Amino acid sequence: MGYLGRRQAKGILLEGLRHLEYRGYDSTGIATWEGTDFSVVRAVGHLDALIEKIGDLEICGTAGIGHTRWATHGAITEGNAHPHRSCDGKVVIVHNGVVENFLQIGTFLGAQNYRSSSETDSEVLANLIAYHCAKEDGAGGHSAFLEGVRRALLHVRGAYGIVAMHVDFPGEMVGARNSSPLILGIGDGEFFFSSDTAGFASHAKDAIFLNDGEMAHLVGGDFSICTLSRERVEAARRAVEWREALVEKNGYAHFMLKEIYEQPTTLRNAMRGRFSPDGSGTHFGGLQMSTRELLQIDRIVFCACGSARFACAIGEYLIERIARIPVEVEYASEFRYRNAPLDKNTLVVAVSQSGETIDTLSALLEAKRKGFRVMAITNGVGSSIAREADGGIYQHAGPEIGVAATKTFTSQVCLMAMLAIHLGRLRDLSCEDGTEMVDALQRLPSLVEEALELDDAVRSVAEKYAHCDHMFFLGRQSMFPVAMEGALKLKEVAYVHADGYAAAEMKHGPIALIGKDCPAFFLACDGRMLEKIQSNVQEVRARGARIVVAVCGDDRGVSSVADDVLILPRSHDITQALISTIAVQLFAYHMGVLRGCNVDCPRNLAKSVTVE
Ligand code: AGP
Repeated sequence: MGYLGRRQAKGILLEGLRHLEYRGYDSTGIATWEGTDFSVVRAVGHLDALIEKIGDLEICGTAGIGHTRWATHGAITEGNAHPHRSCDGKVVIVHNGVVENFLQIGTFLGAQNYRSSSETDSEVLANLIAYHCAKEDGAGGHSAFLEGVRRALLHVRGAYGIVAMHVDFPGEMVGARNSSPLILGIGDGEFFFSSDTAGFASHAKDAIFLNDGEMAHLVGGDFSICTLSRERVEAARRAVEWREALVEKNGYAHFMLKEIYEQPTTLRNAMRGRFSPDGSGTHFGGLQMSTRELLQIDRIVFCACGSARFACAIGEYLIERIARIPVEVEYASEFRYRNAPLDKNTLVVAVSQSGETIDTLSALLEAKRKGFRVMAITNGVGSSIAREADGGIYQHAGPEIGVAATKTFTSQVCLMAMLAIHLGRLRDLSCEDGTEMVDALQRLPSLVEEALELDDAVRSVAEKYAHCDHMFFLGRQSMFPVAMEGALKLKEVAYVHADGYAAAEMKHGPIALIGKDCPAFFLACDGRMLEKIQSNVQEVRARGARIVVAVCGDDRGVSSVADDVLILPRSHDITQALISTIAVQLFAYHMGVLRGCNVDCPRNLAKSVTVE
């Protein structure tokens, strides 16, 4: 966060940091310009710890910066928290990202007597800026501060979103970005910086999303944007939308629960206006591909991380089955460096709720560099991934505050089904089958509402397993990614060691772990696989594990061999995975709450992972 205006900065910074809390962090801090020097206060832990530490301190000033840190370089300590101050006391800085060559820069600076006191790469950057500012004489019409920052950044390798202030340039502030988001908010005679519009949306009217290699300079009640090579940039402004109701809990105990319950609405929003008039297909406004180009696609490669990757894995089943196009799902972080051979008709699709995950963004950029067409599926309107892609599909799920993906996951799965139908109807999917699938999608929100009625039943089941420290989630076909998502949710919000497996794989090794303290949660909702999954349930049960099954409709006796049964609504095959997800989301939520975990902000996690 950064603020420069007429109002007191402290409250604005703290409010902004509060709205950025959902991104996940482990320490915080602010620095304000008090007229003669900076006041810097930092604290380990959550924002309340910082507020307590500030207490009655007179933290004045109408310019300031603030930060929530997710530790990369150096332990979670006050000394490593931001803002960092250069050793000569001149510069304060907040930094997201990683300076990859910080050791080399640190060695160089050490020789010039600029030494760090923290373990972070960010303090090195503060020193580097101070060093270059000290050498600047302001000649050439540029602000010496801006020029010092620019020269410093020319030496940096890695990712950064920074905001900096300088003692000798009290009315100025500089923000810059490379691979880590930074947005300039423009209010009435005041300016803001934030890594997400949520940081200033209640104050600013307009926003400018900086591009990589751009710097924004605030001075004299105005702003300018230029590149690292000093070219002036005329950036487009976007209106800032502030939807307070979406970032409040509205009576729910946690954001995660609220967002689970929002899913009927977010699914409607994902589908709105995207069915073809004859009701047999789907269409998307932002693909930027002609029918001819869509027909030429002979392979799809999805790149994503975490839950988004599991949504892609469900998409793989759906697209291969419905559109008969081969699909591969890649860990974005691996794809970037793997140099995978792709042919010219491959469509690369980056999927990311935030649109800022650096691994996914880097994979997209790598594919683009090689000349491939890249598409994005994201909830992040105007995000880096949305802007870098050639075309794409917005999720319209609204802000997701809980760190664990819930409503954004199901909206991605819904869009996968719609994409499969779209590509399928251009190929061999009949009008009749298309119509049946569209009908199934239209019924989906009400079936999800029905699935949510299981909430109390799921809580009762969770009560029985809340003491367990290990658990397997098992499924076959499209239920397999749901199993992986269920395991990820449980790990994230309940700190239970969990694994999601293709049920038949158990006997190839993992079954060695099964026993009375390691229960198994079976997703048995794929009608075609019920007999097979029943055998898998028996195999695990025979080794003493307690069994939870989620079933729907006629389960062919699977539930009779389970200890606990959750009965979900039966739907069309293309939507069953999505409906089954509700059961694992609720289960993870209740397990987390019962185990006393902070389900909205789990330890060690960040919502937007902007480091590689
Ligand atoms: C999901 O619950 C996780 N918090 C995490 O795995 C997440 O899905 C992953 O970091 C990808 O994020 P993105 O969708 O914003 O790219």
